[in-house]
Amino acid sequence: MSTHDQTPRSGLSRRQFLKGTGLTAATALTTGPLLGGGSAEAAQNARAATPGFGPGPVKLELTVNGAKVTTEVEPRVTLLDALRNYVDVTGPKRVCDRGTCGACTVLLDGKPIYACTCLALEAMGRRVETAEALNADGSLHAVPAAFVQFDAQQCGFCTPGFVMAIKAALDRNPKATPEELETAVCGNICRCGTYQQMRDAIRSLCKKMASNNGPSVNGLASLARSAGCCHHGEEG
Ligand code: FES
Ligand code: FES
Repeated sequence: MSTHDQTPRSGLSRRQFLKGTGLTAATALTTGPLLGGGSAEAAQNARAATPGFGPGPVKLELTVNGAKVTTEVEPRVTLLDALRNYVDVTGPKRVCDRGTCGACTVLLDGKPIYACTCLALEAMGRRVETAEALNADGSLHAVPAAFVQFDAQQCGFCTPGFVMAIKAALDRNPKATPEELETAVCGNICRCGTYQQMRDAIRSLCKKMASNNGPSVNGLASLARSAGCCHHGEEG
């Protein structure tokens, strides 16, 4: 599994975040009473001079499925927890919470990511898409429709992640082959083992998409690159 872009457009990278909070803590320690090195006022001034976020709640503005949402979260809150616990978007599921299973897959600017490994603040100013978007206007998107048709879920906990990963791959290449779509979901796990039904759904989807107009197949490598971020596939 590759890592995603470490410098998001919001301007706040994980490295900057850790550096900011680490510097603040280090400054407070080295100027604290234990070392006799300075007053509380000096520590306060040093803290104010160090760019950082938190530790208390900060304003968070997200664009989720086309809607602007605003809330406040502590900077340590992941995108997954922000979506589920602060803006009531529960399509992405919290299963492993450590970037392994894909149940939390959402699209960030069209790319699949594990929302449990992304800070909510990293998603500021970027487009977040979740499974809720696949039924937004009352008509079911072709990907979940195929899952329903082929009974490609049991408990359904993994399903939002699978359908978002497949949607991203088809958005990128509407004429992707079944093998390419299987590569696109290589970062997703189904504990109920409904893989055969998913394969049937994927084959049916590919047949439908192939009969529509769309760009030509770009090949497996380009599809894997398109999935590059914190989700799966090669670095793109
Ligand atoms: S919950 Fe995020 S990868 Fe499992
Ligand atoms: S349907 Fe239960 S984990 Fe996939």
